[in-house]
This record gives sequence, structure tokens and C-alpha cells, in this order.
Amino acid sequence: MIEELVKKNRSCRRFFQNIAIGRDTLRELVELARLSPSGANLQPLKYMLSYEPKKNALIFPHLAWAGYLKDWHGPAEGERPAAYIIVLGDADISRPFECDQGIAAQSIMLGAAEKGLGGCILGSIDREGLRKALEVPKRYEILLVLVVGKPKEEVVLEEIGPSGDIKYWRDGEGRHHVPKRKLEDIIIDS
Ligand SMILES: Cc1cc2nc3c(=O)[nH]c(=O)nc-3n(C[C@H](O)[C@H](O)[C@H](O)COP(=O)(O)O)c2cc1C
Repeated sequence: MIEELVKKNRSCRRFFQNIAIGRDTLRELVELARLSPSGANLQPLKYMLSYEPKKNALIFPHLAWAGYLKDWHGPAEGERPAAYIIVLGDADISRPFECDQGIAAQSIMLGAAEKGLGGCILGSIDREGLRKALEVPKRYEILLVLVVGKPKEEVVLEEIGPSGDIKYWRDGEGRHHVPKRKLEDIIIDS
């Protein structure tokens, strides 16, 4: 089950923007993050939710998409995420935030995949721009933006080729291909 879910949980960047995602769904996803591990159990992460077109439009311009696809600058209007979860670190609780945000993000993305949704973890963020746009108080560090929506693209996992190139690419039919390193290349036998 977990293997299937992990395989299904691909980074998706084009969506049916008109298929709305409600606050309850986002709360269910954040609930998975809430139950996830946290260094020293400090639980310093907080979450801002966005699921309405007006607020979504404030967030979108501050994100950078698929850096390896040089002639694609992110999803067009109509293919943008229907919802966003902004992962914040509460500096009044602790700093740094260890790797809590990565674990939380993966819990949320797996939960989204289980619901038949797709999403992507975004770390390339114009953080100051986003802070201003959403009036995020200074005590919160903007760590990640998670985008969520009904997937409108096919993502194919493949084994890395002989060149060793890890760059993802898109074929003529618009399918997104993601090369993964081989198992024997990532396990170090001493
Ligand atoms: C910490 C982190 C930051 C990421 N930041 C971005 C980003 O800013 N923009 C983007 O389009 N994808 C981003 N991604 C998605 C990766 O590009 C994606 O995970 C990778 O291409 C492998 O694809 P897969 O998730 O389908 O396995 C990020 C992923 C992680 C884990």
C-alpha cells in the first residue's frame, strides 16, 4: 500500500483549476502533518490555507516552477492549483526547524495522492513578495509552499539513463518524465 501511494505521489504542476478544493480537505491534509514526527517534539510548524481564487491569485506570482523546463514558466490560467498550503516555521517556538517541514510536506502530499489529488512541494519562492502579499507576520518563516489540485498531467517515473542526467523533461504529448537513480546506485555497501 505504501509503495503504491509513494509511486502515485508524483510532483504535479498542471491542474483542473476549476475543480475546487475545500477548507475541510485542506484541514484533513494538515491533520496528517500535525501527527507527523517533529524534532524534540517541538512542533514549530504552522500552516496558512488558501482555496479561493482571490487569495490563490495573490500567491501564484511568487512561485517558481520546474526550473529544468527552460521554455515553460509555470501553469497557465485554467491549469493552476486550486489550493495552497503555506508551511511556516514559528520562530517563537524554535529555530531552526530541523527537517520537520520536509516530513510534514510529504505527509500532506501522500494524503493528497490518497484522495486522488495531486500536488507539488515548492521551495523556490519569492519569500519577501509572498510575505507582503499575505501579510505574514515576521515571527513566521516561510519554509515551503504546497500546491494542491486535481491533476491534469501525466507523470512517468523512469530509470536514469546512461548519461546520468537527473533532469526531468516533457515529451511531445506533454507527459512529464522523472528519472530516478537506481537502487544499487544509492545503497552504499561498505
Ligand atoms: C524541497 C523541495 C523543493 C522543491 N521545490 C520546487 C520548486 O520550487 N518548483 C517546482 O516546480 N518543483 C519543486 N520541487 C519538486 C521537485 O522538482 C520534484 O520532487 C522532482 O522533480 C522529482 O519529481 P517527483 O516529486 O515526481 O519525484 C521541490 C521538491 C522538494 C522536495
